[in-house]
Amino acid sequence: MQDRELIEQAYRARQRAYVPYSHFSVGAALETEDGEIFLGCNIENASYTPTVCAERTAFFKAISEGRRQFRQIAIVGGYAGETENTTENFCPPCGVCRQVMAEFCDPETFRVVLAKSPEEYRVYTLNELLPLNFGPKDL
Ligand code: THU
Repeated sequence: MQDRELIEQAYRARQRAYVPYSHFSVGAALETEDGEIFLGCNIENASYTPTVCAERTAFFKAISEGRRQFRQIAIVGGYAGETENTTENFCPPCGVCRQVMAEFCDPETFRVVLAKSPEEYRVYTLNELLPLNFGPKDL
């Protein structure tokens, strides 16, 4: 899928974020090697620690549906009140989400697309975001 389209899907996912505590909505669109898209949003909790990030929501949805091969993920995040498909800043994935990516993705080829809008975005490989990762290869 084109970067622009994947980013638009991430903005769509962001609309479903459940963020009564941080008011910071994140959306992710994860593409499998076969071109299927799994969307994720962040889901917060009154007890705070059960909160799950948008990226992990997308990964766990896909994995629980039997998918294991992934090509790329688009991530967008910002405070509520910003417009529907633009955000002020890039939203880099947290360390825990990077580690989950490392479990299932090839760090050399998996693309992480961080966007402020469907036109303004940066692309990284997972290896750039999590060098020298500890992964399945180490056990
Ligand atoms: N969050 C994500 O969903 N993904 C990220 O990459 C960074 C942080 C969420 C967790 C929490 O609900 C809110 O953003 C503020 O940390």
